[in-house]
Amino acid sequence: ADGYSFVVVANRLPVDRTTDEHGETQWTRSPGGLVSALEPIVRSSGGAWVGWTGAPDDDTGPVQIDGIHLRPVPLSAEDVDRYYEGQSNSTVWPLFHDLVEQPVYRRDWRQAYEEVNRRFAHAAADVAAEGASVWVHDYQLLLVPAMLRRLRPDLRIGFFLHIPFPPVELFMQLPRRAELLRGLLGADLVGFQRPLAAQNFLQLTDRLLGLRPSGDSVVYEDRTVVARAFPISIDITEIDRLAASPEVQEAAGRLRSELGGDRRMLLGVDRLDYTKGIEQRVEAFGELLSEGAVSSDEVVLVQVATPSRMRVAQYQQLRERVEREVGRINGEFGEVGTMPVHYLFQNRSREELVALYLATDVMLVTPLRDGMNLVAKEFVAARRDALGALVLSEFTGAAAELDEAFLTNPHDVEDLKRAILAALASPPADRTTRMRTMRARIQSHDVDQWAREFLDALGVPVHQ
Ligand code: G6P
Repeated sequence: ADGYSFVVVANRLPVDRTTDEHGETQWTRSPGGLVSALEPIVRSSGGAWVGWTGAPDDDTGPVQIDGIHLRPVPLSAEDVDRYYEGQSNSTVWPLFHDLVEQPVYRRDWRQAYEEVNRRFAHAAADVAAEGASVWVHDYQLLLVPAMLRRLRPDLRIGFFLHIPFPPVELFMQLPRRAELLRGLLGADLVGFQRPLAAQNFLQLTDRLLGLRPSGDSVVYEDRTVVARAFPISIDITEIDRLAASPEVQEAAGRLRSELGGDRRMLLGVDRLDYTKGIEQRVEAFGELLSEGAVSSDEVVLVQVATPSRMRVAQYQQLRERVEREVGRINGEFGEVGTMPVHYLFQNRSREELVALYLATDVMLVTPLRDGMNLVAKEFVAARRDALGALVLSEFTGAAAELDEAFLTNPHDVEDLKRAILAALASPPADRTTRMRTMRARIQSHDVDQWAREFLDALGVPVHQ
């Protein structure tokens, strides 16, 4: 039969469709870690990608971009409201991040989530060749594996969750929780960022469905479903190329001199999301200034906060809180020409981000909860000079691999301040040793290898 033998299914296509002022279609890279990780793999395997274009009421048909067959799934404005902003990002997202914000439970959102998941399953069934492998991604599509199996029992189906999977007691809050679990059990292989997440999942199959998991698998409807950790990584070749480029290095030098030659630079780069701990980070920096532990002619904080999910109330409120606090700190501790916090509520290109990584003395990656966090890994990969320190939250998946970072509990502002000061005060030789060890670890495991391990476990031949 026609169709593709490898299909990725994710809420977003790797590119967003927008219309410029002349009414021309523009495709731009989509935000977030999922897309950065998967795009190179699908490109090199000539597969298909099923997902949303990022625009409501968009009826764009299938297109071929950069060797990837893109199959858009349309979402109406109401679907965006209920399935994307509602159930996905106001119910599942906060719950799976350990209730960093209070999840909202609504029946109409749940219904829309189910309908849209069905639409994704049909689109995948439509483009997949006989016996194809389909890889479904993330918390927006938890029901798709079971729906797709019903439509196409011939397929190999893998699922990967990019965000944390919560402890049993938290998952139990979800209305229709057993159905979501059965959705995932439609896959042959369910992958997580960390072993603990896989354990939570297997425990739930016992608690909710009375199954008997053993080792890393469980038998469900006469099939074996395997649940394991596959910690995601980054495209090291891309980062390395950018970090080696003379233009990027010049841009890094320019940033340094614009900030004032000998000021030390702290950097945060995140989607503006309440899981990222931006508020706590800014607050910690403000306290260090007011206690006189650092001064604004010596240290500067650059915070890039990429606009994200801005129609969701909790994100708007976060933005207001962060901007008020940045304004307060700059008002109180700034001088004409030397502001202590440089806050950029903007999208920045990959080149600019790597230039920032290269310019910085201390990188602050301090989420309250994060499945992995690829910024931490990108920063380490970019520092070919083995200089620069990383302050890293214990509550990220990345901390399991990067334990030479200055680890911190960002829920405790005192501890956050301690870690920032420790990183600033550490002797250069110590920083270099830590950075070398972290780089070596990341270099031996990049995103291609991550995908190969997952697809091997799924039993899919990978030609790369
Ligand atoms: C995280 C999620 C992805 C999501 C991305 C960007 O990385 O794991 O599934 O695509 O954030 O968020 P957005 O809502 O803009 O797609």
